[in-house]
Amino acid sequence: MSNMKKEYAYLPLLVELGKRGCIYTPLRVSRSELAKSIGVSGWKLKRMLREAEAEGLLVAIRVGNSVRYRLTDAGRRILEDFYRDLRGIFDERNLRLKGVVTSGLGEGAVYMSIPQYRARFAELLGYEPFAGTLNVKLYDEYVPVRRTLRDAAGYRIEGFSVNGRVYGGVTVYKASIRGHDRSAECALLELDVTKHGPEVVELIAPVKLRDVLKLKDGDPVEILVYL
Ligand code: CDP
Repeated sequence: MSNMKKEYAYLPLLVELGKRGCIYTPLRVSRSELAKSIGVSGWKLKRMLREAEAEGLLVAIRVGNSVRYRLTDAGRRILEDFYRDLRGIFDERNLRLKGVVTSGLGEGAVYMSIPQYRARFAELLGYEPFAGTLNVKLYDEYVPVRRTLRDAAGYRIEGFSVNGRVYGGVTVYKASIRGHDRSAECALLELDVTKHGPEVVELIAPVKLRDVLKLKDGDPVEILVYL
């Protein structure tokens, strides 16, 4: 995790490169203007760029005398994390839920492997979710907060039946989850039919959250639901 703090030290550089469009395409940027925006000397900027490149946060493509810069996936991820943090701070409509990671009965994996659901989730969220759901047991005081979700607009996946078996509908809310000192994109599912009580929420994500956020049962997490 100490590594993460080090990465955040590059935030001003990554933000300025992002503002100049170096997100997916390698672009030429004026190093003197960049230095001015960040408020460092030309010499210091050069060192920052070299270190950020060594950390795998950006790539510098040298053509003759000119250099083009582009953020890497890791560099973009730092900006995305930061963006989620800012949304959490400033967007007051968002719903904040807190609880601890818990294990279910392996049903999430079954549910999330059904092709019809997978296709709909991919369509709504823009990613293929990891085949499973991360269960979070909310602290008592957040259960009423969760209930207010019912009145909020989410993305709707209607129930369907395959070979006579009925699969229930789901309302999907885009969200992010923070554990320890990292956050990740996810979505909160409100299932029409569930065996869980109102204290348990189920999350899906493009990645296995337990691995990415280093979570085990009982670890505290915070969920920010984007409304
Ligand atoms: O066994 P359980 O019902 O809790 O979970 P599952 O839906 O079968 O998912 C398999 C495992 O992946 C569980 O340990 C989940 O907590 C975990 N998971 C995760 O870490 N990230 C996700 N996006 C989905 C599931």
